[in-house]
Amino acid sequence: MLEKDIEKVLVTQEEIREIASKLGKELTQEYQDKFPLVVGLLNGCVPFMGVLLGEMDMHLEVGFMDVSSYHGGIESSGDVKILKDLEISVHNRHILLAEDIVDTGRTIKVIRELLLYRGAASVKVVTLLDKPTGRVVEFVPDYIGKTIPKEFVVGFGLDYEEKYRNLPYVGVLKPEVYNK
Ligand code: IMP
Repeated sequence: MLEKDIEKVLVTQEEIREIASKLGKELTQEYQDKFPLVVGLLNGCVPFMGVLLGEMDMHLEVGFMDVSSYHGGIESSGDVKILKDLEISVHNRHILLAEDIVDTGRTIKVIRELLLYRGAASVKVVTLLDKPTGRVVEFVPDYIGKTIPKEFVVGFGLDYEEKYRNLPYVGVLKPEVYNK
């Protein structure tokens, strides 16, 4: 049913599994003795966190924040609002922020700075997708699953008007879907 709205698949299910496995190995090395706090940015992070955590072979803690930057459409508002904050203190903790996509870079940059301000020992960012051509602030994620062109994508956590998050792959919507 959802597939009929997809113009092309950009990252297949198989590729996502391979990305998670590769990143998981790197993160297992980096964080082995650090008992990291892996912080997912809701709601988009959920499927990616699900596959990534299973590839991280160490003790870790999990937390979530809900931050809004887009308000349902396809343009970034530039506004970053914290809708749900962490319940765990980040003081002296090694934080790994897990994102579905970094586009303008505004959201993740603000959150990284906030967690450092709160006394985190380190804050690194892992993202499934990176759209470097969309940047309006200087920001380079520490771990990148796949770099994609400046296209609006949906699936595997990414939404258009809260829909399509449950697609098992990442794809580009047909233009007529936006004009409905
Ligand atoms: P940034 O602050 O512009 O980097 O935006 C980050 C957030 O915007 C992501 O966590 C997504 O929720 C959303 N976003 C950015 N690009 C896309 C896209 O292509 N599809 C769906 N959501 C996106």
